[in-house]
Amino acid sequence: MRLDAFRRRAWSRSRRALVSATALALAAGGMVLAVAAPASAARVDNPYAGAEVYVNPEWSAKAAAEPGGSAIADQPTAVWLDRIAAIEGVGDGMGLRDHLDEAVSQAAGQELVIQLVIYNLPGRDCSALASNGELKADEIGRYKTEYIDPIADILADPAYAGLRIVTVIEIDSLPNLVTNVTPRETATAECDTMKTNGNYVTGVGYALAQFGAIGNVYNYIDAGHHGWIGWDDNFGPSATLFAQAATASGSTLSNVTGFITNTANYGALKEPYFAIGDTVNGQAVREHAKWIDWNRYVDELSFAQAFRQRLVQAGFDSSIGMLIDTSRNGWGGADRPTGPGPRTSPDAYVDGGRTDRRLHLGNWCNQAGAGLGERPVAAPEPGIDAYAWIKPPGESDGSSEFIDNDEGKGFDRMCDPTYEGNVRNQYNMSGALPNAPLSGHWFSAQFQELVRNANPPLQ
Ligand code: GLC
Repeated sequence: MRLDAFRRRAWSRSRRALVSATALALAAGGMVLAVAAPASAARVDNPYAGAEVYVNPEWSAKAAAEPGGSAIADQPTAVWLDRIAAIEGVGDGMGLRDHLDEAVSQAAGQELVIQLVIYNLPGRDCSALASNGELKADEIGRYKTEYIDPIADILADPAYAGLRIVTVIEIDSLPNLVTNVTPRETATAECDTMKTNGNYVTGVGYALAQFGAIGNVYNYIDAGHHGWIGWDDNFGPSATLFAQAATASGSTLSNVTGFITNTANYGALKEPYFAIGDTVNGQAVREHAKWIDWNRYVDELSFAQAFRQRLVQAGFDSSIGMLIDTSRNGWGGADRPTGPGPRTSPDAYVDGGRTDRRLHLGNWCNQAGAGLGERPVAAPEPGIDAYAWIKPPGESDGSSEFIDNDEGKGFDRMCDPTYEGNVRNQYNMSGALPNAPLSGHWFSAQFQELVRNANPPLQ
């Protein structure tokens, strides 16, 4: 089985090399086929620049069926390979080849990016339960041979050599090994296990190495978000750990095109009405406003740009670029502040002016009041390769109550609106919407709220 997978991969790699070398014809099974596959060009610095981005027809149809949804149904969203079965397609759903074939047809000879989320590490999502995955903590062998290898085989098919394939590598993983392990009080037993067994690091390195060997794949590692690693204690150690993972399993730093922040999270892109250096009555908001609580950053853009520099310091190439998931961080609608809060106290000032209206920055599940964020766009700011919609708006983060399933989804009380929180959100209410389905399932009420609260507003 292992050998077989290896052979198939080696075969498709060499076949691809042949095609790119000649870009003309290929002898296969005794027949000479004319192959029109474009030669795989060298990687460009920013794959989004000058390219269209793949519209997932499955998401698009669901969006279009919702009231107001047609305004955004033609936006590009990512395809999540969230379990082994997703490679072939779950139920009647499209598999990876179906999406790539459709992408080739959408490209119609133009440059086109297709965004894939690689999300199936052993012991996945060790600090939460809603997406804790199908592979047990020690199933790194299955991760390699049943998940990464088959995906790499497909991506290396010369039929897809003309696409720019962006992979978002393993959200909810590496930062957990910094923030949610012993001796921190936020530690979970599962994250301690994943740190000890090394399988997040091994798995991420393996994925980077396999995909990095394919000339038209662009790897972006998940880098959490400002509300996770924006504190000094987490910032540098995360960069160091990312460099370690990017050089594990035979990978090198050059397999990394960049990093992505805010995937499936709700952190505001820019907080327009307060800044990290502000003071109120002589008191620094960074130290005295509970919302900030000594974080170095108040929004995703400032965090992503600064973290990029820190990653370069950790050894990554100075050409790396950042993506920011802006699918659900708009925080528009009637409750959006229109100016700074009162200068009566640091809390009043920050809470009155912040557009991110979560009850706590650590809340992450189906947040009430959220809206669609910036529409996907290439190269919006220095250091940023794109704003992208990685979490497809309308797909749940987790169920509000336990729902039995065979998808590797647990029940996390952070998705229960009656939950009073835990140490990771400092015992605040979860802020989650009620009546949510399993993570990844369509959540119509959430979609409609996101549309209503879009910022920038929809036309
Ligand atoms: C969650 C789910 C996963 C889904 C993804 C995108 O992480 O666990 O199944 O594909 O969100 O909605």
